[in-house]
Amino acid sequence: MVWLRYLIIQISILASFSTAVHLNLNVTSSLQNAASLVAVGLMDYYNGDQYGQTIGMFSNPYYWWEAGGAWGCMIDYWYFMQNDTYNDIISQALLYQTGDRNDYIPLNQSTTEGNDDQAFWGITVMSAAERNFTNPPPDKPQWLYLAQAVFNTMALRWDDSTCNGGLRWQIFVWNSGYSYKNSVSNGALFHMAARLARYTGNQSYVDWAVKVYDWMEKTGLISNDTYFKFVYDGASIETNCTDITQFQWTYNQGLILSGCAYLYNHTEDSKWLTRTEQFVNGSAVFFNNSIVYEAACQGSKRCDNDQRSFRAYFARFLGVTAQLVPTTKDIIMDWINTSAYAAAQACSGGTDGHTCGLNWFNIGWDGYYGLGEQMGALEFLVNTRALDMPAPYTSSNGGSSTGNGAAGTEKPPTNLGPLHITDGSKAGAGIITCVIGLSILLCTTWLAL
Ligand SMILES: *[C@@H]1O[C@H](CO)[C@@H](O)[C@H](O)[C@H]1NC(C)=O
Ligand SMILES: *[C@@H]1O[C@H](CO)[C@@H](O)[C@H](O)[C@H]1NC(C)=O
Ligand SMILES: *[C@@H]1O[C@H](CO)[C@@H](O)[C@H](O)[C@H]1NC(C)=O
Ligand SMILES: *[C@@H]1O[C@H](CO)[C@@H](O)[C@H](O)[C@H]1NC(C)=O
Ligand SMILES: *[C@@H]1O[C@H](CO)[C@@H](O)[C@H](O)[C@H]1NC(C)=O
Ligand SMILES: *[C@@H]1O[C@H](CO)[C@@H](O)[C@H](O)[C@H]1NC(C)=O
Ligand SMILES: *[C@@H]1O[C@H](CO)[C@@H](O)[C@H](O)[C@H]1NC(C)=O
Ligand SMILES: *[C@@H]1O[C@H](CO)[C@@H](O)[C@H](O)[C@H]1NC(C)=O
Ligand SMILES: *[C@@H]1O[C@H](CO)[C@@H](O)[C@H](O)[C@H]1NC(C)=O
Ligand SMILES: *[C@@H]1O[C@H](CO)[C@@H](O)[C@H](O)[C@H]1NC(C)=O
Ligand SMILES: *[C@@H]1O[C@H](CO)[C@@H](O)[C@H](O)[C@H]1NC(C)=O
Repeated sequence: MVWLRYLIIQISILASFSTAVHLNLNVTSSLQNAASLVAVGLMDYYNGDQYGQTIGMFSNPYYWWEAGGAWGCMIDYWYFMQNDTYNDIISQALLYQTGDRNDYIPLNQSTTEGNDDQAFWGITVMSAAERNFTNPPPDKPQWLYLAQAVFNTMALRWDDSTCNGGLRWQIFVWNSGYSYKNSVSNGALFHMAARLARYTGNQSYVDWAVKVYDWMEKTGLISNDTYFKFVYDGASIETNCTDITQFQWTYNQGLILSGCAYLYNHTEDSKWLTRTEQFVNGSAVFFNNSIVYEAACQGSKRCDNDQRSFRAYFARFLGVTAQLVPTTKDIIMDWINTSAYAAAQACSGGTDGHTCGLNWFNIGWDGYYGLGEQMGALEFLVNTRALDMPAPYTSSNGGSSTGNGAAGTEKPPTNLGPLHITDGSKAGAGIITCVIGLSILLCTTWLAL
């Protein structure tokens, strides 16, 4: 019966081959099939449309911010693969989580949300505006408006009282990280300013971008090397931001890199071209034989759920840079194409046979799985089409989303009762701060014991 066992093995190998993600970038339908399998795998983590679950949120243990990032991946899936299967779900999610003031501080998140969390939803709705994603009904906030509200509320938190400027990581004083000024928060403010500048043509956003960039460079969050530039993690206000935490993450490099690309494309100032190219040069540290990896944690197998999604944003930011700054396209498309092939062959695990892994140097699936793994593979796959599709639209060349420069700072309508800050609610907020602060202290003490 040896032949029978042999046959069974052959059949199961064939079966697993038929479910694995096959990719030939020269054949559009091959790419579409590959991306579709990965997108279905991504959406397997979405249960927000099921009974008792929350619209817009992905299943445990994925945080709210990552959901904002994941919807951005699904917008890219729609745009580059020209597949609108998920568009209604995307719109519903983006509109459900806006919060009462349409600035992506929904009440459920409002005790834990950081500047970076808010920004990742802002970045997604900015893409919706730039890609001309179907506009919400007129009685709902529009994509551009939401992006402006996120930008404006973040900009209002600019803090000159320490480190000569910068945004703190956290919005609320009771969260740990309130005394840390980090690159993802400041980089996202810079990035959004750059995109809003190009989309709206409003000079105030350029001025903001310059201010944030200069502060990051002066502080040392952006390296001062000549031919290549890096972005470091952050610094704490206790030392007046002199102790730079040296970790480098793909998403921070991508936020600044693509922000410079938007600014060059918009202003045509050669300063931004040089910087774009310096950040492209620096990005090489995240590639090995042109295959991307999260250098700070992947080798030591210590990437947490958040970090496992960073490469997805990096792919998106690289793709848009190739669209906006033609001198960068050859090296970037080599990285994207090679990483897409590597990701596809690593998406061969799980019970469905096409679950994506984390380490794409690995031949086949490495046993890791999750929302971040699916997001990363999907973004690298779809961005292989970056040069075949129009660059981000602006309000004057095809973008139809409308907004308001004052979004997020307008006087709230009086019927918002409980959110309106009165002396009473300030006292209430103070008490909440105190209670939460106390319980964190108690919990920490308890954990330490
Ligand atoms: C795709 O086309 C290029 C150029 O025509 C060729 O070099 C490459 O081998 C092709 N790749 C595949 C997977 O067929
Ligand atoms: C569009 O996406 C869905 C879900 O990923 C997939 O089932 C469908 O086959 C895709 N259509 C095309 C033409 O690729
Ligand atoms: C807030 O949480 C409640 C309870 O889980 C849920 O029913 C509601 O849909 C959530 N709202 C948002 C905007 O997430
Ligand atoms: C903090 O650093 C800035 C430069 O980044 C400097 O201008 C300022 O005087 C310093 N403040 C203190 C209190 O040392
Ligand atoms: C980096 O260079 C800029 C501009 O030349 C300068 O203002 C800044 O102080 C430098 N930063 C550090 C950390 O040396
Ligand atoms: C990028 O690196 C190359 C060498 O690899 C160098 O020739 C080039 O000047 C660098 N670009 C910038 C803007 O510094
Ligand atoms: C780079 O890739 C090679 C070949 O796949 C591998 O042997 C090496 O360990 C990788 N380097 C890093 C830093 O992961
Ligand atoms: C800006 O991007 C567009 C679209 O890719 C491109 O045609 C144009 O040349 C770019 N502008 C500059 C100054 O590179
Ligand atoms: C990447 O793949 C696309 C799609 O096949 C192709 O048009 C492009 O030339 C490739 N670029 C590089 C640098 O490999
Ligand atoms: C953007 O969407 C609007 C409204 O649907 C449409 O009229 C316009 O033609 C679209 N722009 C592009 C470039 O497709
Ligand atoms: C330009 O942007 C600034 C800063 O966000 C805003 O205050 C101003 O109202 C905007 N101007 C216009 C004409 O929209």
